[in-house]
Amino acid sequence: MELLSRTLARVKPSPTIAVTTKAQELKAAGRDVIGLGAGEPDFDTPQNIKDAAVAAIAAGKTKYTAVDGIPELKQAICAKFKRDNGLEYTPAQVSVSTGGKQVLYNALMATLNPGEEVIVPAPYWVSYPDMVLLAGGTPVTVEAGIEQNFKMSAAQLEAAITPNTKWLIFNSPSNPTGAGYSWDELKALTDVLLRHPHVMIMTDDMYEHLAYDDFKFCTPAQVEPALYDRTLTVNGVSKAYAMTGWRIGYAAGPEKLIGAMRKIQSQSTSNPCSISQWAAVEALNGTQDYIATNNETFVRRRNLVVKALSAIDGITCPVPEGAFYVYPSIAGLIGKTSAAGTKIENDEIFATALLEETGVAVVFGAAFGLSPNFRVSYATSDENLVEACKRITEFCAALK
Ligand SMILES: Cc1ncc(COP(=O)(O)O)c(C=O)c1O
Repeated sequence: MELLSRTLARVKPSPTIAVTTKAQELKAAGRDVIGLGAGEPDFDTPQNIKDAAVAAIAAGKTKYTAVDGIPELKQAICAKFKRDNGLEYTPAQVSVSTGGKQVLYNALMATLNPGEEVIVPAPYWVSYPDMVLLAGGTPVTVEAGIEQNFKMSAAQLEAAITPNTKWLIFNSPSNPTGAGYSWDELKALTDVLLRHPHVMIMTDDMYEHLAYDDFKFCTPAQVEPALYDRTLTVNGVSKAYAMTGWRIGYAAGPEKLIGAMRKIQSQSTSNPCSISQWAAVEALNGTQDYIATNNETFVRRRNLVVKALSAIDGITCPVPEGAFYVYPSIAGLIGKTSAAGTKIENDEIFATALLEETGVAVVFGAAFGLSPNFRVSYATSDENLVEACKRITEFCAALK
């Protein structure tokens, strides 16, 4: 009998975590490494949120909680959906988990049967297809390339739907591209979904608050209220409040689904950390002022990176609407050879050569299902970004 399950054999470890680990190892070995792989803000968690956590500890709020969230946090989440998205939910429609990742995982585990399909627009956040596989379903990827600004069209969605489609996973602004769907672009997709009542929508709104210039965030149940009963709206505090380590994510949707997700959580992790839940109450109910301040920093960095990478011969770098990533194409560099003699045959080789020859860590596009590209996270200091872009420029200039 094999030790490991057959399901696990279908799944790969997270490549973004692998890049971060490799960069850390090189750094520990004394190499001068600049990591542009991290999927988290470099800002500290705001003080009012930390204070709420300390107060929770002092008040002894350190025990098991209700499985899918304390009532105070569920109330804060309902208020957030009303305030930011115009969506009405009751606490019974809300689930809180250990990060947005667990929310998505619970939902897929609770709903997928063998043979059921999940549409995943590519490039996608690395975990979606593997989570679908772990849950026993079949990911169906739909490629949305740079020429369509990495956004799936209505015709592509229509063509991907089959009688076996259970979910569409939607993510805007996106990891890894930063692309955000406008109201009209999203409406074109929701119009398709209206014609296919068996398809559910899992919208991952994790980067909602990281929206720049005149881009206005919108979410499917808001754009098409008729999809309210078919939508799981997923969000979390990790990115907007610089709380990645606190591990709080949440979702709202149909009570039956929320109940099934609760059942899974009750038999796996019981409840999200009590202290983090109290911190999240403060994040959602307290001042939101620092989001705008952080976004000014992100916009400055985005512009810096887009300008530097766009100036490189062979690289095309669109300007994204949100998140803290850019996803440039290296189509013009494929087939060239680096100064150290590496032939750039694909984006994985490009990223490896870049790391080894210049110490700049990025994540290769194949990890996100769309090549030849790489992902830069600009959630690091301006100084790091300037130096990293200089090294990337020199590396590319030396390609023959
Ligand atoms: C698109 C997207 N969804 C979900 C998550 C998971 O967030 P959390 O850290 O809350 O689990 C991430 C984290 O990188 C993400 O980029």
